[in-house]
Amino acid sequence: MPSTIIEPFRIKVVEPIRLTSRSERQRYLEEAHYNTFLLDSDKVIIDLLTDSGTSAMSARQWGGIMQGDESYAGARSWQKMKKAVHDLTGFEHILPTHQGRAAERILYDYLGGKGKYFFSNTHFDTTRANIEYTGATAIDCLTETGKHPEEEHPFKGNIDIAFLESKIREVGPENVGAVILTVTNNSGGGQPVSMANARAVRQICDKYGVMFILDACRIAENAYFIAQREEGYRDVPYKEIAREMCRLTDGVIMSAKKDALVNMGGFLALKDEQIANACSSTLIITEGFVTYGGLSGRDMEAIAIGLEEVFDPDYLHYRIVSTAYLGNKLTELGVPIVKPVGGHAVYVDARTFYDHIPVEEYPGQALVADLYLQGGIRAVEIGSVMFGKYDEHGRLVPAAMELVRLAIPRRVYTQSHIDYVAETFAELLADKHNSRGFKITYEPEFLRHFTAHFERL
Ligand code: F0G
Repeated sequence: MPSTIIEPFRIKVVEPIRLTSRSERQRYLEEAHYNTFLLDSDKVIIDLLTDSGTSAMSARQWGGIMQGDESYAGARSWQKMKKAVHDLTGFEHILPTHQGRAAERILYDYLGGKGKYFFSNTHFDTTRANIEYTGATAIDCLTETGKHPEEEHPFKGNIDIAFLESKIREVGPENVGAVILTVTNNSGGGQPVSMANARAVRQICDKYGVMFILDACRIAENAYFIAQREEGYRDVPYKEIAREMCRLTDGVIMSAKKDALVNMGGFLALKDEQIANACSSTLIITEGFVTYGGLSGRDMEAIAIGLEEVFDPDYLHYRIVSTAYLGNKLTELGVPIVKPVGGHAVYVDARTFYDHIPVEEYPGQALVADLYLQGGIRAVEIGSVMFGKYDEHGRLVPAAMELVRLAIPRRVYTQSHIDYVAETFAELLADKHNSRGFKITYEPEFLRHFTAHFERL
């Protein structure tokens, strides 16, 4: 049998891509103040900004959408979604939300507040923001190996258990809001978490009577890595692995925009009835009635089907291997990336790629701009534009790493699109010493990367 791993689907509906010229893109980028978040999507050729809400749905999901029951209460589509979420998580108390951060807000508002502490491998930015918004403190407890882009390790998303325990003792278990395990660890390079690590977190949480929450956005991708890399899981179906991980926890939060293969949606699933009741009240006030949250019936129908499809072995194999395909191509070219390649994205180390551009001139932003100019590719800087701060003298305190994320939407791009991305990198490499950095000419107080304006130096 030929060895090429093909996209395990045929294309039934197509969406045209407008092929722009370099001079057009130069103009568009200037109009967007060199911030790719400010570009209209029809000016982008390959959009790798995010894997969130950008999946292509299947014919079955679109068929399901026509079956959506839009009743306010007790809709049939809700029963289907509830059954699918229960089947995955094992929890009785399930709350639908319009996306992941709505579930985060509801739960962390209840568990958080001034004086409370949350611990995670790495808090995703909306997770951290929802925790800090309540007055609580969010502390990352990533294992040391996860902090080094070039270091190879099968589970670089793991929590540092000893550090976690020391922190729980330091703040006092009664002040811990929850321990949150994010699988895969998005902000840490899309790296997986092992079942052994999840089990160890369970033990610590039991020892101190602390709540254990799973951020399960990319749980199917994480399950694939466990099957491949962890002793004893080779022959366990992916869904079983995901189930086992959910059942170690006290609650699961999921942005369905990732591994439920839909464009909008999320949920919160809880073991504890009392907490679920309190969260349901907030849900009704801010999202919608308990049988739809912020979702329409058709959304819930598509989520139920997506949660089943994502565990298809052919899909998951293609998904992880095709992300690695881009990572391997870039490595062959000599592009420095975070290793090993994660599940949903390839992270380029822009500080090494553009080693002539000082951190104060944002090498990641330079790479993002150059990728767009050269190939019409949209990526996102995850470095000092996103996480940089200023000291009391107004000097930049840079982020730990200057990364550029190439997130791969699910079932959207083919191998030739990905080859095109790699070729664009080859062209940038050939001319890399001529690239120049940026200065920021406008920035808002919070989350500046979304709306900042830049000028080329
Ligand atoms: N948790 C993780 C790990 C995420 O990656 C995201 C979203 C969320 C929670 C929030 O979910 O967007 O449905 O409200 N990540 C997107 C990204 C935005 O591009 O990585 P949401």
